[in-house]
Amino acid sequence: MSREIQTALVTGANRGLGLETARQLAARGFRVLLACRDRRKGIAAAEKLRGSGGSLEVEELDVSDPRSVAALAARLRASRRTIDALVNNAAIALDGFNLDVARRTIDTNFYGPVRLSEALLPSMSDSGSIVMVSSGAGELSILSPALRKRFLDRSLTREGLSALVERFVDHVRRGRHEAEGWPTSAYGVSKAGLNAYVRILAPELAARGIRLNAVCPGWVRTDMGGAGASRSVAEGASSIVWAALAETRESGGFFRDGKPIPW
Ligand SMILES: NC(=O)c1ccc[n+]([C@@H]2O[C@H](COP(=O)([O-])OP(=O)(O)OC[C@H]3O[C@@H](n4cnc5c(N)ncnc54)[C@H](OP(=O)(O)O)[C@@H]3O)[C@@H](O)[C@H]2O)c1
Repeated sequence: MSREIQTALVTGANRGLGLETARQLAARGFRVLLACRDRRKGIAAAEKLRGSGGSLEVEELDVSDPRSVAALAARLRASRRTIDALVNNAAIALDGFNLDVARRTIDTNFYGPVRLSEALLPSMSDSGSIVMVSSGAGELSILSPALRKRFLDRSLTREGLSALVERFVDHVRRGRHEAEGWPTSAYGVSKAGLNAYVRILAPELAARGIRLNAVCPGWVRTDMGGAGASRSVAEGASSIVWAALAETRESGGFFRDGKPIPW
């Protein structure tokens, strides 16, 4: 049975697409938990959203820190809060390319959402939705045909996927990533990994009625997208909100503007 007030948790909610997604969900009457790595920035964001509708709470969360993820999951379980929509939005797009960039990008953009989703599963509503904010930059076409085949392998497990992503980091460490078919984009690989995770986990979560989708918001005018991007934050966030809503029945797909896009 659906409860009257739905709760959404949005990561990286203090600015950009996360802030606007929180605003749009609050306007639809959601109670929104703004999960931010800097609590003061979270409080400032909540101030900005005051009057948007719904209610707003701030939760401290650094998605790249397993202890921070575990602490948030424990707080939610202790307070018996149920999450109807989990929006994994927080991510980084660092300048340059080297081992440190590869490691930090994979830890934040791939392991962050994966770890948080798994830690929050006990708190998820059985008809809930998990949104992975991904990117067209993670399209499989960035990989060599051999790697593409491995990412698409139907027998790929969660553990096998982590091992594959770790191979990328190892190949960067050994200066062999191009020879091994990887792009010079840790961001692209992190999102390709996230998309593969959606393909692997969505069928398992369907047993509980939980939907899991990847969404590309398009090229959006945020700190990450830059001022020259083609879309407003409102346009980009509405793709994300679409996937978070209970009336969206799709699961296991990759969407922009509510329409499927190629992996
Ligand atoms: N903008 C685009 O054109 C575009 C295109 C395709 C996909 N996307 C995706 O859309 C999502 C949002 O992007 P955006 O453009 O809004 O980016 P943004 O303006 O750079 O904002 C990123 C947000 O993520 C947070 N964050 C980063 N690392 C974090 C961590 N370890 N723990 C918790 N929060 C963290 C940041 O917090 P701080 O303020 O503390 O740094 C900030 O709130 C990302 O997943 C991005 O990959 C964006």
